[in-house]
Amino acid sequence: MRDIETSEDLHELVSSFYSQAKTDEMLGPIFHQFVDDWEPHIQKVASFWEATLFSSGSYKGNPLALHLEVDKTVHHSLEQEHFNKWVDIWHQTTDTLFSGENAEKAKQRASNIANIMFIKIYQARM
Ligand code: HEM
Repeated sequence: MRDIETSEDLHELVSSFYSQAKTDEMLGPIFHQFVDDWEPHIQKVASFWEATLFSSGSYKGNPLALHLEVDKTVHHSLEQEHFNKWVDIWHQTTDTLFSGENAEKAKQRASNIANIMFIKIYQARM
């Protein structure tokens, strides 16, 4: 199996991730509340990963601030189990499509970011 190497690979990974995540019982309803137009969203998240893994691309944004806002909008109901599920789907999707150093990095980074996000969300509620 090949490794993640290009922006097309990231588009494929993110697109495949969302085809699982948007039909997930726990995460699906949250995504549908915020995302109407999937293709621009997928492109944005793929460009976030391009910046994260390859320090390239055009991503500009503040995912942490955005997820604090998502949590507020859903009445502070983003819990550890949502993040665990997100990370599970990300790891599964990555392993289904890719293998190698970048694939490992993508999984590791996602776990780290998910942990930090949840801690920040939790702190913001206090
Ligand atoms: C409980 C888990 C999560 C949920 C329910 C969730 C939900 C969402 C939603 C609803 C949006 C769209 C918000 C909008 O456009 O108004 C979004 C955007 C995004 N999410 Fe998440 N997310 C989760 C975890 C994560 C994690 C762990 C990462 C990174 C590793 C991540 C990366 C992103 C990025 C990059 C965007 C786009 C940011 C931008 O527009 O600049 N998310 N997320």
